[in-house]
Amino acid sequence: MTTAMNDVMIEAQGLTKSYGRPGARVLDGVGLRVARAGIHALLGPNGAGKTTTVRILATLTTADSGTARVAGYDVVTDRRRVRRAISLTGQFAAVDETLSGEETLRMMARLSGLTRAQARRRAEELLARFGLTDAARRQARTYSGGMRRRLDLAAGLVGSPEPGVFFLDEPTTGLDPRSRRELWQVVRDLADRGATVLLTTQYLEEADQLADRISVLDQGRIVAEGTPEALKSRISGHRLDLVLNSREAYLGLAGRAVHHSPETLTLGIPTDGTAVHVRTLLDEIDPHRADVGRFSVHSATLDDVFLALTTEKKEATAHV
Ligand SMILES: Nc1ncnc2c1ncn2[C@@H]1O[C@H](COP(=O)(O)OP(=O)(O)OP(=O)(O)O)[C@@H](O)[C@H]1O
Ligand SMILES: [Mg+2]
Repeated sequence: MTTAMNDVMIEAQGLTKSYGRPGARVLDGVGLRVARAGIHALLGPNGAGKTTTVRILATLTTADSGTARVAGYDVVTDRRRVRRAISLTGQFAAVDETLSGEETLRMMARLSGLTRAQARRRAEELLARFGLTDAARRQARTYSGGMRRRLDLAAGLVGSPEPGVFFLDEPTTGLDPRSRRELWQVVRDLADRGATVLLTTQYLEEADQLADRISVLDQGRIVAEGTPEALKSRISGHRLDLVLNSREAYLGLAGRAVHHSPETLTLGIPTDGTAVHVRTLLDEIDPHRADVGRFSVHSATLDDVFLALTTEKKEATAHV
């Protein structure tokens, strides 16, 4: 494999895409790098461009410009090799739901070229691995949402050898907390076995729990990228809200803020909330004690982090 030489399994640069109207870009220069056996989360709100990015990487659609390689292969010029190297969830959602989980997996295994005996063994193995042995003989239409997602993942694995790259587009949306946790474990197991996982999610907590690195996508741009720890230390914990005395002071500081409220000249800056840090920040931001009128400290949730990054100012791209 051409990937033997480098350990970047997914690499995209400058991806752009617009549907129809050229001015309205759905992706506006998206770049990504995902290491082998890593779990990378593409986090973003509805319409951010997550599915579009995944579809480009999975060769289901093409970008207007930019390049991408998956498992070392170009997604445009080496489309067939890319397809062989990946698994995409949702792919098998159309499977006949009157079939049982076992029948579904055996059928897929046969389609991928295994003998009857091999297919039986492979189905058994996957049903056990995905916690579906007890439900193996039940029609898939009786499965819960979590069981369906697991069957879907298993179906993506039936062919051998196992694909090295998984694209999971919002794998846990609509699942209850317990099913969500079960699926997280399945995803971790995949990565532990050496698979590379790119998952999209709208939930910061999910990205935090699963991912080695997170790219935050908003309106077709990566607005922040880093480890969960780095992202959290930048934006979670607490927020120091400053009411500035002038518009100049406000604009001068806007770039480092995670919360902006121009009408009240208020900016929110991340802090750990300790007196030492707040004092240091105030001195650094306003050495002459002229710009900051008032301040307050709030505890920020992980969702605040996400909201701050994705719904407010776009000019400051944060690399953490
Ligand atoms: N085939 C299409 N034709 C026209 N517009 C599209 C098409 N597919 C996606 N879009 C638009 O592109 C934008 C990004 O869509 P995309 O599905 O990539 O977002 P997303 O981040 O996956 O959102 P969600 O969280 O809702 O799944 C949206 O504004 C969407 O309406
Ligand atoms: Mg989507």
